[in-house]
Amino acid sequence: MQLIDDLLKPFPKEKVSVLPTPFYRMNDISDLLGSNVYIKRDDLTGFAFGGNKTRKFDFLVADALAKGCNTIVGIGANQSNFCRILSGVGAKYGLAVHLVLSGAKPKTPTGNLLIDHLFGAIIHHVDTIDPVERMEEALQVKNQLEYQGKKVYFLPPGGSIPRGALGYVAGWGELMDDFEMNHLEVSTIIHASSSAGTQAGLVVGQAITGWPGQIIGMSVDVPRQTLEKDIFTLAQATGNLVNINVERELVRVDDSYIGKGYGIRTAECEEAVTVFSRHEGIFLDYVYTGKAAAGLFDYANTGKFTPDENVVFLHTGGNIELFE
Ligand SMILES: Cc1ncc(COP(=O)(O)O)c(C=O)c1O
Repeated sequence: MQLIDDLLKPFPKEKVSVLPTPFYRMNDISDLLGSNVYIKRDDLTGFAFGGNKTRKFDFLVADALAKGCNTIVGIGANQSNFCRILSGVGAKYGLAVHLVLSGAKPKTPTGNLLIDHLFGAIIHHVDTIDPVERMEEALQVKNQLEYQGKKVYFLPPGGSIPRGALGYVAGWGELMDDFEMNHLEVSTIIHASSSAGTQAGLVVGQAITGWPGQIIGMSVDVPRQTLEKDIFTLAQATGNLVNINVERELVRVDDSYIGKGYGIRTAECEEAVTVFSRHEGIFLDYVYTGKAAAGLFDYANTGKFTPDENVVFLHTGGNIELFE
C-alpha cells in the first residue's frame, strides 16, 4: 500500500521475510464455523521457518547494521520463536548472537533451541522463570560484551520495540492490499498477542488507514489490562516514528483463552490445533496460535459473527514448537 510504503521510507529495511505471504478463504473452517474465515499465512514468511518475528527483523537488523553493531543480545524462553529468527538473522548478516534463555537447560536441545544451536547462537541459560532475574542476567551479558569492545544491539523479549513494531505497520499495508485484491470488507482480525509488538504495529497501521473494523489480540499469557496498556504504549511510540496519533480504543485484547498460563495447553487449544490440521492442512502451535484459534472458534460458536461476515485469522507461526 503506497501510503504505508511512503511513511516507512525513511527507515532502513532488510528483506529477511519472503513477502507477500498467502491470503485466502479457509473453505472448510468457514463451513464449520458458519462465517467467512480468511487466513493470512504469516507462518510462511520464509526465513528460518518463518512466523511473525521475521517481519520485525526486516527493520531490527537493518537498524542494528545502520548503528554499526556487530553483536545482538536477545531474551526469551528455551522454545522462543523470536530467538530462533534472531539466531538465523545473526548467521545471515554476520552478527554474533547471544541468547539469554529462561528455564532449565534441557539435556538435549529440541525444536527452536535445536535450531538456535544450528545457527551458532551462544546460549546463556538462566534457570529461573522470573523475568526480572532474566533481564538482570541479560544486562550483565550485554555489559561484559561491551567491556570486550563489542557493539551490542540489545533486544527485549519478542523484539517489541518501535523499530520492530514497524514490521507490522508494513504488514498492515500488505493486509490492506489483500483485502482490496479480494474485494473484501473485513469486520475482525484475530491473532495471538503477547509482547505487544505485533499488535502495536497493526494498530498503528489501522490508525494510518482509518480502517473501520476491529483487531483483537488473543492474549496467550498477559492479563488484558496489562497487555492493552503495553500495546498502547508501544503503539504510541511507534506512531511517533511515523507522526501518527493512535487512539486508545483501537487496542483490544481478549484474555479469556489463556487457561492456566503461558505454554500450558487448554482442551480448546488442542481442539483448534487438530481442526486446523485436519480441515485445512495448516499447523498451529499449542502456545500461541492454538489459543488464538480457540478464541476464534469460540467467537463463531457463540454468535459473535454473522454468516456473511468476513473474519481474518492472522497466523503468526510458531509451529516449530510441535517438534519440542
Ligand atoms: C508464534 C507466535 N505468535 C504470536 C506471538 C505474539 O507476538 P507478539 O509478541 O508480538 O505479541 C509470538 C511471540 O511472542 C509468537 O512466537
